[in-house]
Amino acid sequence: MIAGKRMILGITGGIAAYKGAALCSKLTQAGADVHVMMTASAAQFITPLTLQTLSRNPVLIDTFDERDPAVVTHIHQADHADLIVVAPATANSIAKLANGLADDMLSTTLLAATCPILIAPAMNVHMYEHPAVVSNIEKLAARGAMFVEPGTGQLACGYVAKGRLAEPEDIVRSIETWFAGSGRLRGKRVLVTAGGTMERLDPVRYLTNDSSGKMGFAIAEAAQRMGADVTLVAGRSTETPPAGVQVVRVASAADMLEAVVEAFPGTDVVIKAAAVADYRPAIVHKQKVKKSGEKLVLELERTTDILATLGERKEHQLLVGFAAETEQVAHYAMDKLKRKNCDLIVANDVSKEGVGFNGDTNAVDVYGPEGLEASFPLLSKREVASRLMALIADRLFQRGGDRS
Ligand code: PMT
Repeated sequence: MIAGKRMILGITGGIAAYKGAALCSKLTQAGADVHVMMTASAAQFITPLTLQTLSRNPVLIDTFDERDPAVVTHIHQADHADLIVVAPATANSIAKLANGLADDMLSTTLLAATCPILIAPAMNVHMYEHPAVVSNIEKLAARGAMFVEPGTGQLACGYVAKGRLAEPEDIVRSIETWFAGSGRLRGKRVLVTAGGTMERLDPVRYLTNDSSGKMGFAIAEAAQRMGADVTLVAGRSTETPPAGVQVVRVASAADMLEAVVEAFPGTDVVIKAAAVADYRPAIVHKQKVKKSGEKLVLELERTTDILATLGERKEHQLLVGFAAETEQVAHYAMDKLKRKNCDLIVANDVSKEGVGFNGDTNAVDVYGPEGLEASFPLLSKREVASRLMALIADRLFQRGGDRS
């Protein structure tokens, strides 16, 4: 997938810059034509000569280092790259790109680029969690930048926490996944649901659940990266939707049912990652319910099962449901697959640390009619989404003719 691709490898100034050399070497060995751009600070950590030797191309640092009078280097580099990888990406380099600052060869090239950009952040955990960095990352993700999340472990500053650069082989795998999937779902319409539903009790209270929408938003992002035309029906979530995805905001299970049923006929794939309420208050009070007595008994009534409704109406669509379980995961997943007439069920054991609701990671088992089809270990939700979408694309083309 990587052989013959022209890539810019941007190395910025953190201690993990030394891992940029291993990444450069792996990409070159895989047959990529790697053009390294370093920031001046990166050159404090590792010499340009190392990267020049590994990439077999000149290393660019200074915007004014114009060696070929026939071209403007940063424009030429941006125009000819299939992908730009920034690894390690410091908080400063992420902030510059998020805010459109361009004061060296790498940042000017990033602004001039129309190709995809993959960013692998590396920094101290408090920096990574700082609201400014979080917001810059969200801004870039919303514009379509891809991220390889940092790992957890010993940081150079002495902390044992999240922030270390993803291993070069994991970055290479993400690049391979991206090239493998790019454009594969062009012309396909994918409907994703995400987040929790809100079931009103009165004007100030509602029943909901712990879903953050992160899993569903990551799936929408992965599907869109593969060229699909994506509609995201989003319940309660504060996540920023990926650029180019059509977002339909809903509150209750009934709203979600309406939005999903309307979009269903023109859809090729439906992925139901939302956590939909099974019950809602039988009476929605117009005024705030006042306190009275020691106990309050709420009467709840069943909501419509959206997935099962789609299962009944299914024609050509590939229907993918989720199952959030805390016990007998395989048994309940297979039961849901059959009962709701799904093609695949993505099961997460939400009793396990780091799995399911809220956090940035998930681990899932994917079941088809014959049983377990794939297991994805604890990974970032973005990585789970990429692998899941690759599997879904395989299933789709196995049915309706191959598209590699
Ligand atoms: O949003 P995050 O914080 O990232 O968390 C991700 C997640 C844990 C929400 C996600 O990975 C997940 O498991 N989503 C499904 C949660 C759920 O409601 O599971 P369930 O086993 O109760 O429902 C099974 C399936 O039926 C789901 O696809 C659900 O969307 C669907 N359903 C359920 C009830 C209902 N009334 N209508 C439905 O369509």
